[in-house]
Amino acid sequence: MPLQDAAALAASLPLAQAMREHPWLYPAVETLHIVGFALLVGAVAMFDLRVLGFGRQLPVRALARHLLPWSAGSMLLVLPTGLLLFMADPAALLANRVFLLKLALIVLAGVNALAFHAGPYRGADAWDARAPGRAVLHALLSLGLWIAVIASGRLLAYF
Ligand code: HEM
Repeated sequence: MPLQDAAALAASLPLAQAMREHPWLYPAVETLHIVGFALLVGAVAMFDLRVLGFGRQLPVRALARHLLPWSAGSMLLVLPTGLLLFMADPAALLANRVFLLKLALIVLAGVNALAFHAGPYRGADAWDARAPGRAVLHALLSLGLWIAVIASGRLLAYF
């Protein structure tokens, strides 16, 4: 099924109509989207800052055990609410370069996180003094990518 047909089908679903017609539904879902990504990006940023050397008194792995399940779990709020917002006007969003950029940035941020975990994080037990250069690079990239995701999400309101 071509993408345009899928977009038209999604927009015709009762849930999508409700998102367009009920005056409080879109803002309520957007608020939940914001709560979800604040938790996601907040937890990731606190972990990245620890990798960059802030809060060295906290063991890296213990901090990861606390923060990373929150960032992964917050996806359960971010993804369905993002999808509902998307369903309100899928054809316009699919034609919007800022939206496509935002999705690409989310994928890149995910790939960066996976590469960090499969790579330098394996040796994290030895990092309490200082994380290696590769880990610092992943943390900087992570902060930059998530900030860019937030910026492109916010810019959707203007483009
Ligand atoms: C994964 C992390 C995500 C972050 C950090 C994020 C960030 C944002 C931000 C900052 C906004 C603007 C909120 C506002 O202006 O009040 C937003 C809105 C939106 N997001 Fe996300 N988002 C994420 C995931 C997603 C996903 C996966 C989708 C779709 C599949 C999505 C679809 C949307 C849509 C359609 C809007 C509404 C734009 C508008 O009404 O102007 N988001 N997001």
